[in-house]
Amino acid sequence: SAKRLTPTRIRMMKGGTPIVCLTAYTTPMARLLDEHCDLLLVGDSLGMVLYGMESTVAVTLDMMIAHGKAVMRGVARSCVVVDMPFGSYQESKELAYRNAVRILQETGCDAVKLEGGEEMAETISFLTARGIPVLGHIGLMPQQVHTAGGYRSVGHSETEIAKIRRDADAIGNSGAFAVVIEGTVETFAREATTAIPVPTIGIGASAACDGQVLVSDDMLGLFNDFTPRFVKRYDELGKRVGAAAAAYAGEVRSRAFPAEKHTFKRRS
Ligand code: KIV
Ligand code: NA
Repeated sequence: SAKRLTPTRIRMMKGGTPIVCLTAYTTPMARLLDEHCDLLLVGDSLGMVLYGMESTVAVTLDMMIAHGKAVMRGVARSCVVVDMPFGSYQESKELAYRNAVRILQETGCDAVKLEGGEEMAETISFLTARGIPVLGHIGLMPQQVHTAGGYRSVGHSETEIAKIRRDADAIGNSGAFAVVIEGTVETFAREATTAIPVPTIGIGASAACDGQVLVSDDMLGLFNDFTPRFVKRYDELGKRVGAAAAAYAGEVRSRAFPAEKHTFKRRS
């Protein structure tokens, strides 16, 4: 729709009021978050958050397209970005293009996101030159969990800083309209935000970025698992879901629910 924020408008927010981004995986959550956000991300984190997977590596293109469609049904004004899942873009820029086209055509979203440093810059240039807006993602890259040996923040040594500096420079100048920077130290996030011409959107990357993103379920405390240091819990919905289920169970067992007002009566 013409009313949604475009990737071009997001790019123009560089250095201004911070860009507000949250994840959304479903229509009802997209409806609730839309008016408050600039950007809604259909993240492949849905594999872990919704499907109980160990990592994002098993998430498929079909899953991302199904959830992308669901989110699009609930959005009026936010720019919607759908993650390209593991295996759908790394092999070649042609494969990346074909799968990005599927995501755009089948969901109607505004852009795709893919993880990668300097090795993915050529792919992003190929896509953006051919009509596909791309959000980059550098720093901690969850799809690389098996080669990285876990989920660790990056930028703690000179070698790591040198690598992520090359990544920020390459992706920041690849044609991407903005770059997610995940899990890195404040000094580097500030340096990269100053150095690259497009907005940086941080997650566990300090307040120095041009915007922030969190996984909504983390931010809402929708489950009771481990919460990483960079997440702020704005609510404890998981506890409230448990309390509501307990109240319901008690009332069903005591026959307090359903009451008269929940009960159909014959009219005549
Ligand atoms: O999959 C995801 O939710 C993400 C964000 C947290 C950046 O990639
Ligand atoms: Na992701």
